[in-house]
Amino acid sequence: MASWTDAASRDELARCRLLEVEAGGAALLLSDIAGMAYATAAVCPHHAAWLSQGGVDGDRVDCPCHQGQFHVPTGRRTRGPECPDLRTYPVRVRDGRVWVDVG
Ligand code: FES
Repeated sequence: MASWTDAASRDELARCRLLEVEAGGAALLLSDIAGMAYATAAVCPHHAAWLSQGGVDGDRVDCPCHQGQFHVPTGRRTRGPECPDLRTYPVRVRDGRVWVDVG
């Protein structure tokens, strides 16, 4: 069941490109990639490093540990140690706000 939660201001995400937020009880990493908003889990599925401490490289986010890297739109691991893909969440933008389905 969908559980849409107001996660952030769209303008703030556009300015910062990466935002770590808590919404609906989930720790999320919001990313602005080429003008599109995305939401993934905030922590790396390998050993739980905070991805906001890594950085965005094109449409990928770098983990600050072990050279992990994930494709933001799909969550697919593109580099680094064997681990599950990064969880992704549906996003929609309404009235200047970024909404995430954390359900
Ligand atoms: S904690 Fe992210 S790759 Fe190891």
